[in-house]
Amino acid sequence: MLYLDNAATSFPKPESVYQALDKFARTSLANPGRAGHAMAVAAERTIDDARHTLNQFFRGESPDRWIFTLNCTDALNMAIKGTVNPGDHVITSDLEHNSVSRPLCALEKAGTITLTRIASHGGYLDPEDVRKALTPKTKLVALTHASNVLGTVQPIDAIGTIVREAGALFLVDAAQSVGVVPIDLKASSIDFLAFPGHKALYGPTGTGVLYVGRRTKLRAWREGGTGGDSSSETQPTQYPYFLEGGTPNVLGIAGLAAGLAWVNAQGPDNLRRHEVALLAKVVEWVESTEGWSVAGKWDPDTHVGALSLIVPEPLTPQELGGILDSSFGIAIRPGLHCSPYIHKRLGTFPDGTLRLSPSPFTTVADIDAFIGALAEITAGVI
Ligand code: ALA
Repeated sequence: MLYLDNAATSFPKPESVYQALDKFARTSLANPGRAGHAMAVAAERTIDDARHTLNQFFRGESPDRWIFTLNCTDALNMAIKGTVNPGDHVITSDLEHNSVSRPLCALEKAGTITLTRIASHGGYLDPEDVRKALTPKTKLVALTHASNVLGTVQPIDAIGTIVREAGALFLVDAAQSVGVVPIDLKASSIDFLAFPGHKALYGPTGTGVLYVGRRTKLRAWREGGTGGDSSSETQPTQYPYFLEGGTPNVLGIAGLAAGLAWVNAQGPDNLRRHEVALLAKVVEWVESTEGWSVAGKWDPDTHVGALSLIVPEPLTPQELGGILDSSFGIAIRPGLHCSPYIHKRLGTFPDGTLRLSPSPFTTVADIDAFIGALAEITAGVI
């Protein structure tokens, strides 16, 4: 299998992640913080260390502001639904994944919030469009850092400054940027940073993270056992436990910590450049081949390792994806990628595009094989 679907979840993981998961599962998989025995303490130490590492890597305010979640969707829901109140205005964009769009849409339909969805241009947001959309009632601006469909990286620093000046909160969905685009929380105006552990941080599925800055005021998300002091009748208000009721995915967090260490050693920008160099070969082929085109603007300097291709008629992305899988053993993701608004904007709705997303383990030979397969499939058809 030639796996080019890393924007959905990364595969393979670095060897060190497999080793960490195996070792942790065999030696330390107890319930963290729920008892004083050695294994419970070891499990708790793993989680604490992971919070410290995250805080250092992204230069957050303190380790206790890092909440472990089920996935990025869970983190985004926690931030959105825990923040907005009746009458608030929220700004989002047409680049968003359904994990941002659906909670906001549901709140809008329920009459809780008013919503402005700003339009992207060639896959990029203009900070001035955010400024124009702000009102005195704007409580939250919720935007993706990198489009999961197009791979385009958004100017979140400039947008964050505008949002902060207006007194609103800034939620960044870093699902496709974390691990490949440096994020510096001290130098930026991000209030909430949400990301999965299983994409470019190379942890297993079932891991996600929400960073919660101190300007925020969230409602408790899930109430339940937190270990430590069990006497309180209601959820302890102390972070991170306030937002972490229930046994955490400590095995997943151990894998995520190993993945983060691997990313740190490689350097996020080196990883991004490797993936973008591979995509550049595909772009070159597309631009010299009749019938094909790249969705959105192609700018290698502001791009992560995801690229959407508009396929030549009469083929559909779904048909192509099926043939790539069954006849060539190549895994890509066709369709709308859970992000319908950008496809409507680009005119690729409802069939969508053919998205490929390489990883640090993808080689030039793999990309040549992918291009060869596209050429072979389309040769007799268009
Ligand atoms: N959000 C993931 C994707 O873009 C699943 O494929």
